[in-house]
Amino acid sequence: MSEELLQVDGLRVDFGRRRRVAVDSISFGVGPGERLGLIGESGSGKSVTALAVMGLLPDNAHVSGSVAWRGQDLLGLSDKEMSRLRGAQIGMVFQEPMTALDPTMKVGRQVAESLRLHDSSAASARHAVLEMLGQVGLPEPRRVADSYPHQLSGGQRQRALMAMALVNNPDLLICDEPTTALDVTVQARVLATLDEVLDAVGAACLFISHDLGVVSQVCDRIMVMRHGELVERGATAEVLRAPRHPYTRRLLSAARLDLVEPGRMIELEDA
Ligand SMILES: Nc1ncnc2c1ncn2[C@@H]1O[C@H](COP(=O)(O)OP(=O)(O)OP(=O)(O)O)[C@@H](O)[C@H]1O
Ligand SMILES: [Mg+2]
Repeated sequence: MSEELLQVDGLRVDFGRRRRVAVDSISFGVGPGERLGLIGESGSGKSVTALAVMGLLPDNAHVSGSVAWRGQDLLGLSDKEMSRLRGAQIGMVFQEPMTALDPTMKVGRQVAESLRLHDSSAASARHAVLEMLGQVGLPEPRRVADSYPHQLSGGQRQRALMAMALVNNPDLLICDEPTTALDVTVQARVLATLDEVLDAVGAACLFISHDLGVVSQVCDRIMVMRHGELVERGATAEVLRAPRHPYTRRLLSAARLDLVEPGRMIELEDA
C-alpha cells in the first residue's frame, strides 16, 4: 500500500471524441501534509484534473485511469459517498468567491452549514465557526459571521471560503486559483495566511494556479501541465532554479516573483 493520501494514476479525461483530450494520462501522488502545486497556461487541464479528483465533472466527461484516496478507489464511488468524502476529508477552495458563497445567507451560517460536528449544539458550532474565521485571519470574526458576502471585501470573502473548506479539519485542501481575482498585495496576504493555516492544521494541499510565483509561495513541489500532460515536476526550489522544459522557462519569466519568499529568491539569484 502506498503512503500517499491521494494517488492518481493514468488519469485521462475527454469531453467527446471530436474534442482534444483535456487531461492525458497523468500520474501523481500527494502525501500527508505535503503541498503540491499544479501550474500551466489557461486550458492546460488544471481545473479538469481537480474536478476529476473530486468527482465533480459534468456527465459529458469521459474519465479513465484511477484516483485513490487512502488506497480507496474514488472513481467508482456513488455521488453520495463522494459528497461525504468532500467536505469531511477533502476541502476545496475555488476562484470565484461570489459564486461559491450564497449571497442570501450570512457568512457565519454558511461556515456552520459546512461543519459536520458529532456533538452539534448551536453553541459549540458557533464557537467552532468563530474560531475558524479568526484562524484564516479575519480580524473581527463576530462581525464577519453576521455579515452577508457582499458586505465583505474580495480578500475577506476568499478567507471565508478558506474557513468553510477547513472547518472540518480535512486532510487535503484543493485550491483552484484561490487568489487570482485579488490584487497583488491582498493576494500575497491571503497566501501567507493559507501557508500558516495549512501548517497549523497539518493539511496537505493541491494548489492550482497559472502563476509560478504564487504556487512557489505555498508549495514544496511543483508539476507543470501543458495540453493535458505533465511536462515537468520537481521540488519548488529546483524548478525555479533550473527549469528543464522551455514551457516552464516561459512560465517562469511570466511569474510574479515578487511573491516568492525571500529565501527562495536568493536561491534563484544564485542560479
Ligand atoms: N465541461 C466541459 N466540456 C467540454 N470541454 C471542457 C469542459 N471543461 C473543460 N473543458 C476543456 O478542457 C480543457 C482543460 O480545461 P481546464 O478548465 O482544466 O483548464 P485550466 O488549466 O483550468 O485553465 P484556466 O487556467 O483557464 O482555469 C480545455 O480545453 C477546456 O475547453
Ligand atoms: Mg482552471
